[in-house]
Amino acid sequence: MIETDAALTDAFRLAMRRVASTVNVISLCVEGEAMGITATAVSPISMDPPSLLVCINQAAAVHPSMDVVTHFGVNVLHRDQEAIARIFADRRFHAERFADGWENDCVRPPRLIDAQASILCRRIDHHRFGTHSIFIGVVEEVWTRDGVDPLVYLDGRYGRVGD
Ligand SMILES: Cc1cc2nc3c(=O)[nH]c(=O)nc-3n(C[C@H](O)[C@H](O)[C@H](O)COP(=O)(O)O)c2cc1C
Repeated sequence: MIETDAALTDAFRLAMRRVASTVNVISLCVEGEAMGITATAVSPISMDPPSLLVCINQAAAVHPSMDVVTHFGVNVLHRDQEAIARIFADRRFHAERFADGWENDCVRPPRLIDAQASILCRRIDHHRFGTHSIFIGVVEEVWTRDGVDPLVYLDGRYGRVGD
């Protein structure tokens, strides 16, 4: 158990507001049901093998499913997709999450068609830490959209690179 100092937590939160992150929707399909969550805590691990990690809060609706799925998708949002980021970051919009723009066969993780990139991963490992779990995925398939113009999150606001 690691002691948490409130002032240190506040300072760390302030520091993290200065870190720009691309915004992603992690997608999965469980027993025919599509699920997803907006997440900035996504990082490549290695090119050999191509692999990445995502950090998911244990309180998130997708968390129990992330523990059992064989695959998940990482959809890197385009700067025009802020509305999608908001929908997948708000419980009130669960029913609308996959209404528009998704390729979804209810078996594989749904793929956001106009995403900057979509990365299909086989989930191979996970680790619990504090409030979150780290899920490791090995990349199996990749789609990219022409042009590089991702949605970014910085200082509590959405924006684009160069704003
Ligand atoms: C910009 C942004 C980034 C986020 N990044 C993460 C993240 O990396 N991991 C996570 O578990 N939640 C993250 N969240 C919070 C979840 O998107 C949010 O709590 C969501 O509502 C949880 O899904 P649920 O409502 O289906 O439980 C982020 C939210 C925002 C707005």
